[in-house]
Amino acid sequence: MNRRTTTLSAAVALAAALALTGCSSDSSSNGSSGGSSAGRPELKVSGAFMPQPVMDMAGGFLTITNSGDTADKLTSVTSGISDDVTIHETKNQKMQEVKSFDIPANGELKLERGGNHIMFMELKKQPKQGEKVGIELHFEKSDPIKVELPVEAPNHNPKQH
Ligand code: CU
Repeated sequence: MNRRTTTLSAAVALAAALALTGCSSDSSSNGSSGGSSAGRPELKVSGAFMPQPVMDMAGGFLTITNSGDTADKLTSVTSGISDDVTIHETKNQKMQEVKSFDIPANGELKLERGGNHIMFMELKKQPKQGEKVGIELHFEKSDPIKVELPVEAPNHNPKQH
């Protein structure tokens, strides 16, 4: 009984603290101690690559890790290499466009071969293995993140290593 009271007052104190700091969060002191930065997704991109395209379309794969206490969404992707970039999920071996992908709080979003992916259509040029393709990820809450996708062999799949 006592414990419940403590948790409740802690929650109230936290809410008050959040309300107070509301506007000053721009300093984004990414307090690695956690807690103080509650309320913001903290996104990091890793393992990005694009298999060398064999036609005028390509896929993009990467992992977005969210170390923040707030969930976010990947809502769109843009790139200089294509004006038609969408995000797809794969269900029953078929891919279909989605409006967004969830990036859970303290979790990750994986785009990998055979699953969710970024889809580039009508490529303006076909990048070769060893080159890099610049993209920008757009989120519901976080600022956009620019990523360079290294172009790998057409059959590259990190999961097989
Ligand atoms: Cu697709």
